[in-house]
Amino acid sequence: MSHYFITGASSGIGQALALALSSDGHHVTAVARRLERLQKLQTDSPNINSFAGDVSNLSDMQNIIEECSRHSGPIDCAILNAGKYVPLGGADINSSEFYDHMMVNYMGVVHVLDCLIPAFKSTGSGHIAIMGSTAGYRGLPRSAAYGPTKAALANLAEALYLDLEPYGIKVQMISPGFVETEATAVNDFKMPQIISAHTAATKIIKGLNRNQFEICFPAGFVWVMKLLSVLPHALYTPIIKWITK
Ligand SMILES: NC(=O)c1ccc[n+]([C@@H]2O[C@H](COP(=O)([O-])OP(=O)(O)OC[C@H]3O[C@@H](n4cnc5c(N)ncnc54)[C@H](OP(=O)(O)O)[C@@H]3O)[C@@H](O)[C@H]2O)c1
Repeated sequence: MSHYFITGASSGIGQALALALSSDGHHVTAVARRLERLQKLQTDSPNINSFAGDVSNLSDMQNIIEECSRHSGPIDCAILNAGKYVPLGGADINSSEFYDHMMVNYMGVVHVLDCLIPAFKSTGSGHIAIMGSTAGYRGLPRSAAYGPTKAALANLAEALYLDLEPYGIKVQMISPGFVETEATAVNDFKMPQIISAHTAATKIIKGLNRNQFEICFPAGFVWVMKLLSVLPHALYTPIIKWITK
C-alpha cells in the first residue's frame, strides 16, 4: 500500500486517479481548491484524505505536504496533475491569462517539487509523475497560453529524469490526447479519439507501474502527434492549418 499525492483531484483525470488508486487500497492525498468537491471525495472513499490548497502558492503546498505526511506517512508517488486550460489564440494576447497558466501549470509543479525532492533525496526513493499533454509537442492554434506551459513541463521532466535518477527517484511524464473533462468541455470543435477520465486514469496507473519515461495515450492519436512533431516547419504548419481548419 503506497501513499499517492495527487494535485487537481477535485475533478476530471485527477479525481478518476484518486478514486481508482484508493479503491486499490492505497492512501491518497487529494489536493485542489474546491473544498466541497474534495470533502465529497473523502466521504465516498475512506482511503482519500483531502486538502484545499492552490498549487500556485508555495506555502499552501509546504503546509499540505507536512500535514499529509504526518497523517499518511511519507509520500511514495506524486502525480502533479493540477492544470488550467483556456483556449486563447495568439491574436488575443492577455498577459494575465498567460501568467495564470504558467503559475498553475508550470510553477504549480515546481512548488511541489521544491517541497518533495529534499525528502526523496534523503531516502533515495520516490516517484514523480508530471501531467503534460500532447498539446506540448508543437504549437497549435488557440493554444498560445496553454501549449507553452506543457512544452515547458516536457523539458522540465526530461531534465529531472536525468538529474534525479542517480538519487533513485523515478520521474515520468504523462502526455494524454483528448480526455472528456470540465477542461475540454469548453472546446467547440470535434476532439478526435476522445476518451473518458476513467479510461485515462486506468492507462496512467498501468504506466506508473512500468518503467517507461513517457505515459502517452490514446496510441493512434499520439503517433499522429509524434509524427507531426518531427516535421520541418515548412510541412508542419500547412498540415496543422489543414487539419484544424
Ligand atoms: N482533458 C484533456 O483532454 C487533457 C489532455 C492533456 C492533458 N490534460 C491535463 O490534465 C490535467 C487535469 O485536467 P482535466 O482535463 O482533468 O481538467 P479538470 O477537470 O478541469 O481538472 C483540473 C484540476 O486542476 C485543479 N486546479 C486548477 N487550478 C488549480 C490550482 N491553482 N491549484 C490547485 N488545483 C488546481 C482543479 O481543481 P480546483 O478548481 O478545485 O482547484 C481540477 O481538480 C491538467 O493538467 C490538464 O492540462 C488534460
